[in-house]
Amino acid sequence: MTNQSVDVCIIGCGPSGLMLSRLLAIKGVSSIILERSKRTHVEKRIRAGVLEHGAAQTIIDSGMGERLKAERMLHDGVCFVIDGKQARIDLTAYAEGQQISVYGQHEVVQDMIAFTLENDVEIVFDAADVALHDFETGVSPSAGPNAGPSASPNASPSVTYQKDGQEHTVSCKYIAGCDGFHGVSRKSMPDDKITEFHRSFPFAWLGIMAKAEPASDELIYARHRNGFALHSMRSQILSRLYLQVPLETDIADWPDDKIWDELDLRLGADAGWSVNRGEIIDKSVTPLRSFVVEPMQLGKLFLAGDAAHIVPPTGAKGMNLAIADVRVLAVGLAKMLNENDGSMLNEYSQICLRRVWKAQRFSWWMTAILHTPEGAHDTYQSRIDQADLEHLLSSDCYAKIFAENYVGLPFEV
Ligand code: APR
Ligand code: PHB
Repeated sequence: MTNQSVDVCIIGCGPSGLMLSRLLAIKGVSSIILERSKRTHVEKRIRAGVLEHGAAQTIIDSGMGERLKAERMLHDGVCFVIDGKQARIDLTAYAEGQQISVYGQHEVVQDMIAFTLENDVEIVFDAADVALHDFETGVSPSAGPNAGPSASPNASPSVTYQKDGQEHTVSCKYIAGCDGFHGVSRKSMPDDKITEFHRSFPFAWLGIMAKAEPASDELIYARHRNGFALHSMRSQILSRLYLQVPLETDIADWPDDKIWDELDLRLGADAGWSVNRGEIIDKSVTPLRSFVVEPMQLGKLFLAGDAAHIVPPTGAKGMNLAIADVRVLAVGLAKMLNENDGSMLNEYSQICLRRVWKAQRFSWWMTAILHTPEGAHDTYQSRIDQADLEHLLSSDCYAKIFAENYVGLPFEV
């Protein structure tokens, strides 16, 4: 049995937990990260790969972006193929010179873990049975009405976990729940203190990673009668591609040749363009859904990233929202711990939710206009979506709104 003390106990070693720990360290606030999986598992999980302008800059400014700077692919625009017709939106022209960075989330996580350990912040991998205690009690100075119950200001939270057959306790001043959608943090909040908003979509994405040179310099989003497709990439020799498939899809029904043929069909424009084929090294099916919890705070427990909200991957906002949340949380916690000023911490949930709902709207909209539920081609809704896309691709005003959202809205904090 061990007992440790830190300012902030962070649960989850994804982009939100790792970035929070670094931003806190810069401000002299101590933290520990408790992660239930093994390091190799966390570092190899394949996720999306687009960083907004501000998210990439946050990683670079934090000191963890040396490899990102060297290896990322900076893109000025994105392409669309709508029923075989090609179009492009010049992001940089419409969004005041901002670009997106194409760089895999698992590479971001690898860079952040290496940096964190080199800088002597402890990450406990393989931490089982993580449990949160006494976070509902105690409020911070100048607490607003949503800050949690006004109980004893002296009560302090703790987190327990099992490792190597022993129970360990971390005593802390605050807990950051950065443990993703299936994590323990949000589940520790009583149901009557939170409201959850859910939306599921009637389709999934079949994603592949292939050892193939990307066939396009930019991302291509396709809307086709057979469904959505996306051409993305990770490097000059790795392509990342997706197909809309029915929810109950069994991956065994999609042999490699069938995937490539369908990608060619949906992404192929008038000019007879085709994707570059190569060895498929990863294949998965992921359902699309949206989720938000309000508020993102209860007492001294703060949720960030996927623990508080998830978006469908269209638009790649997941990792970007996680980074935006912890920017606010780090400043709020540091002001409280260093200056005894709880004003920003008490506003944490409201500040984050303003951005979260805008990203929810954007991701929902991109998903809706680019996908067609099976068998719903010649419907009123499909014509509306088509009109929406035609407007987007022919109007400077609309393209500017798209570009502003795609490269990332400005940070409030
Ligand atoms: N105890 C400890 N760790 C846990 C627990 C638990 N009970 N439950 C989950 N975790 C860990 C997971 O193993 C994972 O490593 O929390 C981490 C959460 O990381 P992410 O899921 O990457 O979430 P986040 O850091 O918020 O990043 C959001 O990740 O899922 C993508 O699309 C999402 O891009 C977005 C980004
Ligand atoms: C990806 O490269 O994985 C990716 C890119 C753009 C998206 C979603 C995923 O909208």
